Amino acid sequence: MKAKNKKTVLSGIQPTGELHIGNYLGSLKNFIELQNKYQCYFFLATYHSITENHDSEKKKQQIINLAIDFLAVGLDPQKCIIFNQTDVPQCTELAWIFNTITPVTELERMTQFKDKAAQQAQNINMGLLDYPVLQAADILLYHPDFVPVGKDQEQHLELTNKIVRWFNNKYDNYFQPVEPKYTKIPKVMSLLEPEKKMSKSAGPKHYIGINDSPETILNKLKGAVTGTGKETLLPPGGQNLMTLLREFGTATELKYFQKQIKNKDVKYGELKQTLAIAIAQYFAPYRQKRQELEKKPDYIQKVLDEGAQKAEKLAQKTIKEVKTLIGVL
Ligand code: ADP
Ligand code: TRP
Repeated sequence: MKAKNKKTVLSGIQPTGELHIGNYLGSLKNFIELQNKYQCYFFLATYHSITENHDSEKKKQQIINLAIDFLAVGLDPQKCIIFNQTDVPQCTELAWIFNTITPVTELERMTQFKDKAAQQAQNINMGLLDYPVLQAADILLYHPDFVPVGKDQEQHLELTNKIVRWFNNKYDNYFQPVEPKYTKIPKVMSLLEPEKKMSKSAGPKHYIGINDSPETILNKLKGAVTGTGKETLLPPGGQNLMTLLREFGTATELKYFQKQIKNKDVKYGELKQTLAIAIAQYFAPYRQKRQELEKKPDYIQKVLDEGAQKAEKLAQKTIKEVKTLIGVL
């Protein structure tokens, strides 16, 4: 087991399209803070992303786009290791080994699997079922202490810890359980269906992209489902907008709308305008940085190549130790 003085953090995001404020508030924001304190590994979960219906013509660009997003929101390759999962093949080796100790029934009960199987009924592939095992391998290759994710990943991290137990019981006390790290807002809700989480898969009107223009943000917010403003109990859509205002708005703006809520006289039109301006302002530096980075494809590739080299060092060590423990080396 490696001796540790600085704690290790690891997380991944799938390159499947643009990032939304749910991804940002639920996980990326944490990444940016954690890179200052811990040894951090942040990767593009490309192998996970091909378990969904996808267009291979677009995949490479989605990978580059997500790498640009990581850098544009403030991840710094001097402080953290950024890499593409497909450049560190040890994750698939370890996933195979974990496959041999994971009961199929555990995977069949995963809620994300059930949801995605319903969404892509014509493409219920083995990878979709095996997705959490690959995730456990991604994580455990680097022996992290914390895994920053949104609340929707809780069940996957529980499975990771079960795999730790099954492996340690069968072989040796080698892996340590991991701890999820949530932000203050681990679940941002959809604009159109505020009882469900904000998600890319439901379509662009359900989410605010972090790269959306000020006009798009306002238009999407105008369409957000709220209520009459007269209810005794703030409806889920109203709660969601207030959560966002707490994060992106000023204390004065927050107080102003809290007073409206107290008086059961919420002017949603006004709240949406205020919030749209606040969100657009918050992400203005990101949009600017993104434009600059789009002009530097060689630099982006260099960051990913160097990150993969660093990640692979630890991945190789882990896989060698695991192969020795299971008796194949
Ligand atoms: P999506 O569901 O939009 O496809 P991903 O599965 O790519 O998003 O999620 C990337 C990261 O963002 C994960 O850590 C996930 O937990 C987090 N995340 C996704 N949606 C939300 C949300 N609505 N609220 C908070 N965190 C979220
Ligand atoms: N399943 C995660 C998601 O959809 C992505 C992911 C893959 C991940 N491997 C991981 C997250 C390892 C944390 C750690 O967002």
